[in-house]
Order: sequence, then structure tokens, then C-alpha cells
Amino acid sequence: MTDGRVVGAGALRAFSADVLVALSAERDTAVLVAESLVDADLRGIDSHGVHLLDLYCTRIGNGQIDPRGVARVVDDRGSVVHFDGGLGFGQPCGVQAIDLGIERAREHGIASVLARETTHLGALGYYTRRAAEAGCVALAFQNGPTIVPPFGATTPMFSTNPFSYAFPTAEEPSVVFDIATTAVAGNKLLLAKKRGDPTIPEGWANDEHGRPTTDTERASVHQLQWFGGHKGFGVGFLVELMAGVAAGSSFGRTEDTASPALGGDRVAKGFQFVVIDVERFMPATELRARVDALVRDVHASAPAEGVEHVYVPGEIEHLTRELRLGEGIPLSDGVLETLDKIATDIEVAPLLDRGRLAKDHA
Ligand SMILES: NC(=O)c1ccc[n+]([C@@H]2O[C@H](COP(=O)([O-])OP(=O)(O)OC[C@H]3O[C@@H](n4cnc5c(N)ncnc54)[C@H](O)[C@@H]3O)[C@@H](O)[C@H]2O)c1
Repeated sequence: MTDGRVVGAGALRAFSADVLVALSAERDTAVLVAESLVDADLRGIDSHGVHLLDLYCTRIGNGQIDPRGVARVVDDRGSVVHFDGGLGFGQPCGVQAIDLGIERAREHGIASVLARETTHLGALGYYTRRAAEAGCVALAFQNGPTIVPPFGATTPMFSTNPFSYAFPTAEEPSVVFDIATTAVAGNKLLLAKKRGDPTIPEGWANDEHGRPTTDTERASVHQLQWFGGHKGFGVGFLVELMAGVAAGSSFGRTEDTASPALGGDRVAKGFQFVVIDVERFMPATELRARVDALVRDVHASAPAEGVEHVYVPGEIEHLTRELRLGEGIPLSDGVLETLDKIATDIEVAPLLDRGRLAKDHA
């Protein structure tokens, strides 16, 4: 029995963009969102890849995401800029914000760009890596719906509150750390449910009564566990402060949005990107060489028993991308069926009918 097929990145991007255009997005927006989703699939961050089209279709269909919503600057203080995302796609707002953050960091040394009334950004590393590739250090925070209880509680109050940082390098791939502050991203649990996996690893989630479970069906996406207990909760709390409180967005139980989707259904999210021009630390070439030296020290460390290779943050994703650019992106039957249903519903050419699937990796 086989599960799934391998699909080229090019075909997947074209399909995803066509779906978003059929849902009324401008072509430029659709291409940008498609690019960010397929980038996640290429890097093995399958929880934030094209399977999210299903979620985006639902949210557009019920009016929670405005596919033509435009992000605009609402307060500009030079080194600190606030956006309102207009409840449009998060990705175009995110790219605009990180690019502005890079520009302002070069001008002021350090800059912070915040956004309210934005929606899902996808994988945060997409934005921090963009800054690292432009020679800056970046930190990213995004909050969201009230689905995760505080540490030691059962009342859902936070999102999976992702956090990412990236550092530029000389010859090594950029260092990119990119995590949910819960043990796993909610989408990983959703994907396990979609795939029909019977069990999930211990420590991912509780059932709806707050009891730990490894039963995929019983695990509640509203009862995820923090990574490292109170420590993950502390970092997740920082994300809520930076992305929700400071951005003027909804946070905790406080709603500050024009969207009717509130609480656990909240789609209006806040984010904050902090960007630092490394030239303010020391000459960029020197800093990049020092980061490379640290990466190589880590690589040269003695691996523990059973470990083949010691990695730095972002490396596994970089290697997966190299592999998948050559061999294609594996999509499970469950994800393919979802994409097929979307294609039928909105009348775009199905993914598997598009030519040169496995060869079209560009
Ligand atoms: N936008 C949102 O609302 C939202 C919410 C939650 C999560 N997310 C995204 O979900 C994605 C997945 O999050 P996650 O928590 O499941 O990630 P994860 O647990 O898979 O951790 C990924 C990070 O750990 C590093 N890593 C993994 N294995 C390693 C190893 N052996 N050695 C060294 N480093 C290693 C990776 O390079 C990467 O930086 C992220 O892209 C995150 O931004 C987004």
C-alpha cells in the first residue's frame, strides 16, 4: 500500500496560487502566499505547507479572511512602525513588515515592526531567514486564538505562540530557529488527525478535560502542552506580550478587533519583528565568520550514542529543501484528497492533472 505522491515545487506553487486567485485574491498576493506555503513544504515544515489551503478556503468562505485585505502603516516612528493588516492574508503583511524592518534597522541600528488585525503568517522562519539573508539578525513573535491554557490551567487563553530567530552566516546556511512554544504546532496535531495516525507522541496534548493523552482522536487542539512545562509557557507569554499586547492586537481574553471571530475562533492575530543590523555589533564579515565558527564547533562536537549528526537550528530544514528541490515534495493521500476536493469545489485544474509533476521542481 502506498501513501501519497511526490510533487514538484513548481506545480504545487502554480496550483496553490490558482486556488487563491479563484478565491478572489489578487494574483501577486496569491503568488506570495503560495510561495511561502511551498517553501515550508520544501523545508519539511509540512504542518505549515499547502495543506493550510483548506483552512484558508474555509476562512475566506466564512468571511474571516479578506483575500483582498491590504496591510497599511498606521504609526511610523522611524525605528518602530505599526501596521494594520486589514484582516487580509498574513503573508503579504509579513513580507512588507520584515522588508521595512531591514530597511529601518540599517538606518537606526535596530527596528521593530508590529502588526495588528493581521492573520496567519505561516512558518515564522520564512521572515527571519529573509532578514538573515539580507545581513540582519531577526526575532519574530506571533499570537493568535485562545486555544492553549496557561501552564497548570485548563482554560484556553493563548495560541501556540510561535517564536523564531535567525542569524546571518558566511558560508554556512543561515541559522534559523523556528518553533511553536507549545510542544508542537497545533497544525501538527491537525495533520496527524488528517493522516489518521492512531497515536501521537507523549507530551503533545491533553484531552478536552486536560488529561494527558497519546490517542490522536482524543487529543484536543484546544489543550496543547507547552514545550518544557513552565519554561515554554514563559516564552509563550513573552510572545503574547510582544505580538498581542505591544502590537495593539487582541491578547489573552481581551479582544481588540473588528473581526466577529473571537476567542478560540480568533483569526485576527498580532505579530512583531525585531530586526538588528549586525554592522552595529561589529563588521558584518567578522560577525558572519564568527557565526560560522560556532556552527562548525557544534558540528565537530562528539555525537551522543545513536546520533549520526549534530545539527544547528535551521540546518535540517535547509538540507530537506536541497533534497526536495531535487526529488520533489512528498504529499500524503490525505493532503492530496483535500487539495483535490478544493480543486473540484472551486473549479481549478486538479494538482494531479497538471503535467510534469514529479519533474517540475523549480
Ligand atoms: N503562524 C502561526 O500562528 C504559527 C503557530 C505555531 C507554529 N507555527 C510554525 O510551526 C512550525 C513548526 O513549529 P514546531 O514547534 O513544530 O517546530 P519543531 O519542533 O519541528 O522545531 C523546529 C526547530 O527546531 C530545529 N531543530 C529540529 N531538530 C533539531 C535538531 N536535531 N538539532 C538542532 N535543531 C533542531 C529546527 O531547525 C527548527 O528551527 C514553525 O515554522 C512555526 O513558525 C506557526
